Amino acid sequence: MATLEIKNLSRLFGNTCAVDDLSLTIGDGELVCLLGPSGSGKSTVLRMIGGFEEPTAGAILIDGQDVTRVPPERRPTGMVFQSHALWTHMNVFANVAFGLKLRRLPKDEIRRRVNGSLATVGLEGYGERKTSQLSGGQQQRVALARSLVLEPKILLLDEPFASLDQHLRERLREEVREIQRRVGITMIFVTHGQDEALAIADRIAVMRDGRLEQLSRPDRLYRQPQTEFVAGFVGQMNLLQGAIRSNVMSVAGIDLPVALADGPATLALRPEDIALEKRGDDGGADVMRVTDFGTHLSIEVRTRCRQRLKIMAPPGTGWSAGMRATLSARKFSVYRDGKLCFMPQPCDVRPAAAA
Ligand SMILES: Nc1ncnc2c1ncn2[C@@H]1O[C@H](COP(=O)(O)OP(=O)(O)OP(=O)(O)O)[C@@H](O)[C@H]1O
Ligand SMILES: [Mg+2]
Repeated sequence: MATLEIKNLSRLFGNTCAVDDLSLTIGDGELVCLLGPSGSGKSTVLRMIGGFEEPTAGAILIDGQDVTRVPPERRPTGMVFQSHALWTHMNVFANVAFGLKLRRLPKDEIRRRVNGSLATVGLEGYGERKTSQLSGGQQQRVALARSLVLEPKILLLDEPFASLDQHLRERLREEVREIQRRVGITMIFVTHGQDEALAIADRIAVMRDGRLEQLSRPDRLYRQPQTEFVAGFVGQMNLLQGAIRSNVMSVAGIDLPVALADGPATLALRPEDIALEKRGDDGGADVMRVTDFGTHLSIEVRTRCRQRLKIMAPPGTGWSAGMRATLSARKFSVYRDGKLCFMPQPCDVRPAAAA
């Protein structure tokens, strides 16, 4: 277990600023997910922590020790790359034992530790198998065992399960979470799957263009996104451009009380925070499409101002395309210049009559 401190870390590639003045601290035994769109700098951050990429500026400290210029093999870190690159000419045991042999450990200890680490990832008894005789998920677990066996204080995982199907990915990430809790290792997990991050992280760091947008617990990230980018990136969100006049924001046929100066603003509404009511006549929106996911209905509506919104409703509520509805917001937030500027307590604000 270890703490990690990143101070004003930057990495330039020619004119591209892959990582831009990034600072964050990760606690002992914490699992932090790096989340962000493609090209936002996640892998570059991870590679710098592991020592595979040199920072242009800034410092990396592990347990208070500056490791910025320390080579990867002398850092207390282990890394699982996206392409796990197992050695196909060696069996599973030899793959996992490789790093320990380099360290010239006694044979007995190597055997004990390799078997222990294979058991940890649920591959007890697979030592003699060729890696080509394993499924994709089993190969990923061998890659994980190969890192765990070296007992790193910090384990770095770069989209380790990206190439696997959804069910297997979900299972393996739960397993990783369990191993992380059991072994008590500090872990940084890169993903661009937001579900993955929300499911396993203690905290999530959202990156955009090499910068840190927000670092928060999953529930806070989802419930209180601090920027418009995070609001739109994490979970489903209806982002609607509108304007505030005399402390009222009017958008999509809904009038909301907002204590802010006049001017343009963006309203953010989660699909589950919008209530729909059936109305035959002057309803504010037309139901365009209804998809039944079993657990809920996903309803797409179009307002009179031709704005499209996604709404989540309980199953069996009888909605179908062609119906008319009025909308009201149970919860909302308002962004201006990309930053959160208004978020009232849970409310239920009625729409304006036939806007
Ligand atoms: N070796 C390199 N040479 C030049 N540019 C690079 C290099 N490595 C990364 N970059 C650039 O730095 C930026 C960040 O790349 P990085 O690989 O860290 O992104 P990422 O968030 O991991 O993306 P993805 O989700 O696609 O893996 C990108 O614009 C990328 O093109
Ligand atoms: Mg990457």
